[in-house]
Amino acid sequence: MLLLLLLAACTTRESRPTRPPTKAILYFSADLKGYLGPCGCSENMRGGISRAAGELAKARSTGVPVFFIDAGDGLFGAPSIPEDAVPQQERKAKALAQALRAMGLSVRAPGPMDDARGEAFRESLQLPEVRPGAVRWLAAGAYQVAVISAGDVAAAEALAAKARRDGAAFIVALVPQAMEAALRGALTAPSVDLVIASKPKDDFTAEESRAAGGTTKVVQVQNKGRTLLRVDVSFRDGGKVEWVKGSSERDRELSALDERIELLRAQVDAPGLGGELKGLKQAKLNELVARRQALAEAALPFPVDRNAATFHFVPLESSLPRDPAVQAIEAAYDRDVGLLNLEWAKQHGKDCDPPAADRAGYVGSAACVGCHPFAEKVWQATKHPRAYASLEEKGKQNHLDCIACHVTGWKQPGGVCRIDATLGRREVGCESCHGPGWRHIQVPVKEHLKRGKDAATCTGCHDRENSPHFEFETYVQKVLGPGHGQPLPPDAGQLPRVTP
Ligand code: HEC
Ligand code: HEC
Ligand code: HEC
Ligand code: HEC
Repeated sequence: MLLLLLLAACTTRESRPTRPPTKAILYFSADLKGYLGPCGCSENMRGGISRAAGELAKARSTGVPVFFIDAGDGLFGAPSIPEDAVPQQERKAKALAQALRAMGLSVRAPGPMDDARGEAFRESLQLPEVRPGAVRWLAAGAYQVAVISAGDVAAAEALAAKARRDGAAFIVALVPQAMEAALRGALTAPSVDLVIASKPKDDFTAEESRAAGGTTKVVQVQNKGRTLLRVDVSFRDGGKVEWVKGSSERDRELSALDERIELLRAQVDAPGLGGELKGLKQAKLNELVARRQALAEAALPFPVDRNAATFHFVPLESSLPRDPAVQAIEAAYDRDVGLLNLEWAKQHGKDCDPPAADRAGYVGSAACVGCHPFAEKVWQATKHPRAYASLEEKGKQNHLDCIACHVTGWKQPGGVCRIDATLGRREVGCESCHGPGWRHIQVPVKEHLKRGKDAATCTGCHDRENSPHFEFETYVQKVLGPGHGQPLPPDAGQLPRVTP
């Protein structure tokens, strides 16, 4: 058998029977971490499986064969799931699987997090998979793309060398390695054309897309479904695929645009920016995104006598179109999951421990405002008291992915421990910043609370994902006012007398 294959390979090289030239488009996602889409906490947030589907549909409409490959760790965001989150996370994994199938997923390499609910659950989702140490062949006309799953690049190279002998025209290795390790491996992996390094070093590096390497390209794709990698291949019966040079000018232009887009995005997002200026900036932002899209998609000249490829990243910006069929899958998930969570809470939910004398506990903002009317007035004018209402407007007040930062004291004594018992804590309340107030309302001295004028008070909620342009100095000004961290005007009257 091996001999036959070798013979076949030799004849191919000598007589060169010309196969008709073919093109193919490959899309890659990696490290999706169970994200159907962004939370919508800030404006212009990237990502969303229905936008990825929109992008694929557009590419398919050109008639060129399109393959969609996922590098794993997509179904769940953690290696294990807490009990109360099981109904939601399983429902979400099902929605994701349904979406991936609707998008014509060619193959994926399951990662360890995909088994957060066990192997049997993962297999029940019936996604096309390539196991570690195996090769999946995808036919693009008369040419074959080989997709390899391996523990590292060296192991992939062994499989790739064989796949090359067996006739693969383009070889992709999906490896759960960080960029740096994969790059080192790529130096001695001549048979591999493209490595998807799917395990970023840490959460910080996972935030961005990166590409490096020479004849063997190594790529990391931004996590949580915010960016896709697109590879365009032109098969001409001309040996190992060559990465087209001369794309560097385009790449420079793309990254210059990316910088301008990021800058504008931060400006549109600044708290307090309103009205006409915001509209103008948003319009400019949308225009830049469209320009980037057009530039990225403009075909580069491929050589006519060789197999060649180009690649670029496709950040899934919020102004890109969504695929209606996949949007419907998301909507069904959104509808179901609140009900599932409520049902679970009613049957198994446990109340938070009550506040106790020896322990800090939450009491709710209503217990504070009587003694602090000026602070209350300032607080009322911020967005914090409406945080829960914002979830209700989206119908997501029963989503476990959302509730933690939109109520006071999530999973804390005296706070919110079940989705069906949130009354009195439906806001980002006083204690979200000043800490649990039980002891302070017993004995109202300042030692029993914190002042909270530091970034760490905020960044538990205003993190990089949900509040990407958070800047303590500008944000904190928006929550202060007369009697709340700023002097009261002389005619403000007396503070109510306090009788502890
Ligand atoms: C019975 C009246 C009373 C209630 C109820 C009360 N406070 Fe106070 N609060 C006070 C008094 C009096 C002070 C000033 C204490 C001092 O100077 O030692 C104070 C001080 C503070 C301070 C300033 C702390 C500092 O370091 O200067 C904060 C913040 C605060 N309260 C928040 C709260 C919050 C949050 C609640 C609700 C959980 C609350 N208060 C409920 C009376 C009250
Ligand atoms: C418990 C989570 C939580 C904490 C802690 C928190 N925030 Fe917020 N913050 C939110 C949420 C949620 C919103 C959005 C509310 C809405 O509009 O629904 C928000 C909105 C804001 C906004 C309005 C943003 C805009 O675009 O207008 C400002 C400003 C802000 N927070 C400042 C702060 C500062 C400063 C701190 C720390 C001193 C802080 N927040 C602490 C959850 C939090
Ligand atoms: C880790 C904390 C966190 C989680 C989890 C979270 N949010 Fe938020 N959310 C915030 C913060 C912080 C803001 C304010 C961001 C800003 O303005 O910079 C916000 C703002 C919002 C707003 C904007 C309200 C407005 O001002 O128009 C909406 C809507 C929202 N969140 C919905 C959601 C939904 C839906 C989910 C779940 C899918 C979710 N959030 C999960 C922290 C969170
Ligand atoms: C988003 C976070 C946040 C929330 C929510 C919040 N505060 Fe504050 N509060 C602060 C910060 C920051 C300061 C300023 C501390 C300083 O200047 O050192 C402050 C100051 C205060 C002070 C001291 C006032 C002064 O001028 O010395 C009191 C009292 C207070 N807050 C009470 C409340 C009460 C009551 C609520 C709810 C109605 C509340 N705060 C909600 C962040 C918050």
